[in-house]
Amino acid sequence: MTTIELPVLQPEPANEHTSTNDGGHAVYVETYGCQMNLNDTEIVQAIMARHGFRLADSIAEADVVLLNTCAVRDNAERKIHERLKHLRSWRKRKPQMVVGVLGCMAERLRRSLLGEQDLVDLVVGPDEYRRLPDLVERAFAGEQGIAVKLSRVETYDDITPIRTQGISAWISIMRGCDKFCTFCVVPFTRGRERSRPLESIVREAAQLWDDGFREVTLLGQNVNSYRDPDGQGDFADLLAAVAEAVPRMRIRYTTSHPYDMSDKLIETMAAYANICPYIHLPVQSGSDRILQLMNRHYTVAQYLERIEKIRSTIPRCALSTDIIVGFCTETDEDHRKTLELMETVRYDGAYMFKYSPRENTKAWKMGDDVPEEVKAQRLEEVIQLQQQISWEINQTEIGKTFEVLVEGPSKRDPAQWQGRTDTNKVVIFPHLGTDQSYIVGDYVQVRIERATSATLFGTVVAG
Ligand code: SAH
Ligand code: SF4
Ligand code: F3S
Repeated sequence: MTTIELPVLQPEPANEHTSTNDGGHAVYVETYGCQMNLNDTEIVQAIMARHGFRLADSIAEADVVLLNTCAVRDNAERKIHERLKHLRSWRKRKPQMVVGVLGCMAERLRRSLLGEQDLVDLVVGPDEYRRLPDLVERAFAGEQGIAVKLSRVETYDDITPIRTQGISAWISIMRGCDKFCTFCVVPFTRGRERSRPLESIVREAAQLWDDGFREVTLLGQNVNSYRDPDGQGDFADLLAAVAEAVPRMRIRYTTSHPYDMSDKLIETMAAYANICPYIHLPVQSGSDRILQLMNRHYTVAQYLERIEKIRSTIPRCALSTDIIVGFCTETDEDHRKTLELMETVRYDGAYMFKYSPRENTKAWKMGDDVPEEVKAQRLEEVIQLQQQISWEINQTEIGKTFEVLVEGPSKRDPAQWQGRTDTNKVVIFPHLGTDQSYIVGDYVQVRIERATSATLFGTVVAG
């Protein structure tokens, strides 16, 4: 096989249908990583469908298998290497099958992925998906392909993602990240920050409502830096415009950077009933010294002042966070401060991680001096504490009645429904006997009867 680098193609106009694959090869995309990757997969599916590919539901049916990957921590990448190993057995059965690695790991590891496990034909980074159909066609002809240029302008604004399930949709409002937290690979895998036009986001939300969606989540690595390229609007203006355009749609967003969490944004959230009172506000550490080493641009006191502003403006607001334990030079004292901060804020939920050094980041050069057992111990402690706090908060919900958006059957027990409160808590409740008077996408009033640290359980008091 030869390796080729294709010239950069110009973005296609929205209405152009250039079918390069009338034979209808089937493509299967498997997604790892964050919600932005899930939305990117929907974009990739749209690009492939536009070029005549069929979407397959499984590897067994597929002529093309694409893994849309994450590089944020080492274990995310290890999972993909394992998956590729597994795919090798498929290749024996289907020698013509094309295998591609997309997403952040493709961007990070580039050429070194080509040929991994004698398997990978294509390596395509997050800003190069328009070239996929062409690269796949060439791969069928025996050429390996790599496309990993990052763009300052690509937002796939003209491509309507193919959304296949549920009543909840993601809308990427921006791509990339300019924050350069010292531990993080995202600015390298996703490139510079760029925003989509406000008007086009509002139009997409309105269309989603007409298509039956009942919840949208506006996505970006740091949504607070959103700037309308066609006007003056910031993220608060965008949120208000979407809230007004689809007044009965539930509106969520993620992720916010504490440094840019403005009063205006908090006040806008409070002003619209359909903007969900839930904020994911990653803190990472409770130690000022570590926050500075992480290049997070805020102190614990400034972070707490933001929390105070949120709570005084939106009293019902639920909060979640991300925490990294074992960042380089983190002492027992730094760790204790993180636990202390968690007790002060009392988050409804948290995503907690052991620090994983990533090559080429600033922190990579700082070393990785906290021993693995210490990291594991600290992780255990933050998880235990968070579970306790989540459990305690959830017990206080017992006896209250919430409006719940019905999402579908419970995963654990399909005889029950699963839905969410506007504060993003999962609620499980039984079907109303044989009465199917409400369905997925409806709002029901559920009275909470019991709770674990992760889930509320109740019964419907009104449909
Ligand atoms: N843009 C988002 C999230 C990016 S990645 C934000 O800023 O919040 C999601 C989370 O992964 C981060 O918040 C951080 O807690 C964690 N993370 C990122 N890089 C990491 C690393 N090298 N090791 C461990 N956790 C990491
Ligand atoms: Fe990574 Fe920081 Fe950007 Fe989030 S804000 S994606 S943690 S660099
Ligand atoms: Fe992972 Fe890339 Fe998202 S590194 S977390 S898939 S932006």
